[in-house]
Parts: sequence; C-alpha cells; structure tokens
Amino acid sequence: MTTIQPVVMLPDENARAYAESSAPARTEGTSPALHATEEMRRLATPWSVAVAKANLLHSCDLPPGIILDPACGSGTQLAALCSTLGRPGLGVELSGAVAPLAAVNLERCGKTSEEDWPASSRILWGDGTAAQSILETYHQHIEQHPCVALLHVDPARPNDAQQHTLEEMQPRLDELLKSWAPYLGTNPAVILDVSPRLLDTQRQEIENIVSSIWGDVAMTWQWLTQGRGRIDRLSLWIGAAAGLGPSRLIRLTKSGEVQLIEGTPAVSIAQPAELNIGDHLAIVDPCVISSGLGESWKKMWAGDESRWATISGRRPICINPRDGQNTVYQSVPDNPNFVMIQSMIQASGEVISIVPDLNEGSISSYAKIAADAGVSSLKLRCTLDPDVQPKLQSKIDREMRILALKNPVKSGFIAEINGIHLICKEQD
Ligand SMILES: C[S@@+](CC[C@H](N)C(=O)[O-])C[C@H]1O[C@@H](n2cnc3c(N)ncnc32)[C@H](O)[C@@H]1O
Repeated sequence: MTTIQPVVMLPDENARAYAESSAPARTEGTSPALHATEEMRRLATPWSVAVAKANLLHSCDLPPGIILDPACGSGTQLAALCSTLGRPGLGVELSGAVAPLAAVNLERCGKTSEEDWPASSRILWGDGTAAQSILETYHQHIEQHPCVALLHVDPARPNDAQQHTLEEMQPRLDELLKSWAPYLGTNPAVILDVSPRLLDTQRQEIENIVSSIWGDVAMTWQWLTQGRGRIDRLSLWIGAAAGLGPSRLIRLTKSGEVQLIEGTPAVSIAQPAELNIGDHLAIVDPCVISSGLGESWKKMWAGDESRWATISGRRPICINPRDGQNTVYQSVPDNPNFVMIQSMIQASGEVISIVPDLNEGSISSYAKIAADAGVSSLKLRCTLDPDVQPKLQSKIDREMRILALKNPVKSGFIAEINGIHLICKEQD
C-alpha cells in the first residue's frame, strides 16, 4: 500500500478564505467561533463536552509532550485539549477538504490563549495511521522533537448506524494503535472515543487490542451523559489517562458541572421482593444501569440493605427498606459523593400506598390518599400511553388543587414496578 505523504496545513490567507467560504465560523454555546460543515458538526464533539473531557486530564499524570489527534476532523476536541492543558497539538486529517478548516480552527483557539502552545501546534493532511512519516514531517516543520504525551482519537463511524463492526471505524483502531505504540512508551496516555452503542463483546475486542500491545495496562470505560437518561458519549481511557476504576459515569450538567461515579462494573439484578408501606424508593437515571455502575451507586445510596426493584426502561427503581434517604452519606451533605448520588436520582420518596391500577376511574381515590398524607401535588412518573398520560395528569392536578392543603407544599409522585403502582411522598 502506498502511503500518502503528509502535508502541513498552514492557516494562511488562502486557508482562512477557503474556511470562511466553505463553512463560515460559528459559535455554539460557549465555544469559540469555529469552522465546520453541517456534516462535520454532526461528527464533532460539542465544545462543552470537549472541555469537560480535557479538564478530567488535570488529575492524570501525563508525560511531557504534545497532544496528538490522528483523525482530528474539525479539530474541535484537539483545540479544547490544547487550550485546557496548555500543550501543543498535532492533528492529522485524511480529508483534504476538512484539514484546512482544522488548521484555521486551531489557530483561532490559539489566538485567545496567552500560552505558547499555538507556536508548535500543527495540522497535517495525511493518513493518521502512518505514525513515522507524520512525526518526521511534524518534527522537521517545527525544528524540534517533542514526544507524544497523549493520543486522543475519535474515529469516523458509519452514518446513522445503530450498530457497526470495529472494522468499519476509520481509522481502524488496531492499525492506528500499532502504528503509534513505538512513540507512546510502556504506560501510554490514550483516549479512544467509540460509539455508546457498542456491544459488550465489541468493548472486549477493543480491550484485547489494547492488551495485545501494552499488556495489563490500566483501562477505564467512561460513560458520559448530559441528562435525559441517555448515554451521549463512550470512551476508553488508557494507561496514564485511566481513572481510578474500570468504569466511570460522568454526568455533565448544563452549567458545565461534572458529577462523577467510579467503580467496578457489575451486573445489576432486579429483585421482585415484596414492597411495603414506608419503604424508601428512588427512581434513578438509567445511565447508572447502562454504565454497569448500578451496584456501586446502590451501595453508596443506601448500603447493602437496598435492592433494585426494576432495572429496565427509562425508570430503574431502587428500594431502601429503611426510612430516610442517602443512608450512607446523609450526615455529610457537602460531600461530593452525596451530591453525586443525589444527582443520579430523578425522584425519591416514601411509599405511602400500593395500588393495583391507574386509570381515570381510580385517579380520584389516589389523589385523596395522597392529600390525606399531606401531599399537595402528585406527578405521574410511570410508563403510560402518551395519549393517556396528559389527560390523567390534568385530572390529578385538578383533584389535588381541590383536596390538598396549600401549606406546607409537599410533592409526591406515582411510580410503577411491574404493573404495581406506588404513591410516594417526597422527603424534605
Ligand atoms: C469523528 S471525526 C473526528 C471529529 C473530531 N473529534 C472533532 O472534534 O471534530 C473522524 C475524522 O477522522 C477522519 N479520518 C478517517 N480516517 C482517517 C485516517 N486514516 N487518517 C486521518 N484521518 C482520518 C475523518 O475524515 C473524520 O474527519
């Protein structure tokens, strides 16, 4: 196979004019103005996520050197890494139409920085799997020989594919990592972005590729959610970039705050044991289950006595038969673990009644049960036909307005476990 000779993309007048005409610079949220076509924006990591990922590396002991992104696309993630860590970046992009945009974007981000990383940052147009020729071209151009401190890659994947094979990732991970391994040392810092929909067997395949090159190097799967109960990003953090455990779930809030849970993934099993009045119940973000950290979270929420009553669907439910929430951390509300545990809960409260079915006919009596227990508003938090749900909710709201005491205002909700409905009162 002939290798394409890499070409350094200079962000000169021509490149800037081309970037402005083909993909006018645009800001998104807190991002700097960046050039990207609609297709590239679809592929790019949003700036807020890119910065949050970069910030996580502050706690890692990265070796000296540059940040390498051998399939850099628009250069958004690379620019976020360089500006956050204050390190020069080397990006490689196979598409001749995209590479100049990445060069202009990196320059744009560099202009707002007071550090000297932009001076030796470069984008090359070439094949990111050709490590030797990429590094030679880069070193020659900057007339220095820095090492690679971190390899970050987000390979292209088939458009809109629910599932795809590892061979369909471009560049291929096995070829890419083998090519760069000689330049990364024995405890490399590597981050691989992959599809959140990869099967467990495919994640295992990726781990095997990594182990075949670096032996028993540390690896952390990172599941990232921006809310709505969905995993938005999945990545493998390797070696010097790895976290404390084999898995971690990152919850990124709208204001850019990061909640983090780390642990060893374990299979959560639903235990359909008897439910009792007075049980404490938490409806949990389903990402806790999909990241494999359901057991770690449960232990931190209420210790060994708690159990998963249901783990499927959008509303996994954990039951704590003891009274009170956050049994383990309740005495230390400023503790980051307490904040993290709470941030994973959609709703929690005490079971005040267990009722068999939910329909227009039964709603009035449920509203009365709730009102008698001091609840002033009742929200449906169970799976219902989308046509039926708003009608039932309006009816409950009307009934509660008539029945409930105005003060103190106490919220409640109706949850569902395997067809059984539970009227719950939220705690203060
Ligand atoms: C998912 S995008 C990367 C998005 C990037 N993280 C960003 O912030 O915009 C993957 C990119 O890899 C490029 N690519 C695919 N194979 C490549 C290769 N062998 N060498 C270099 N780039 C490659 C594609 O053209 C595409 O632009």
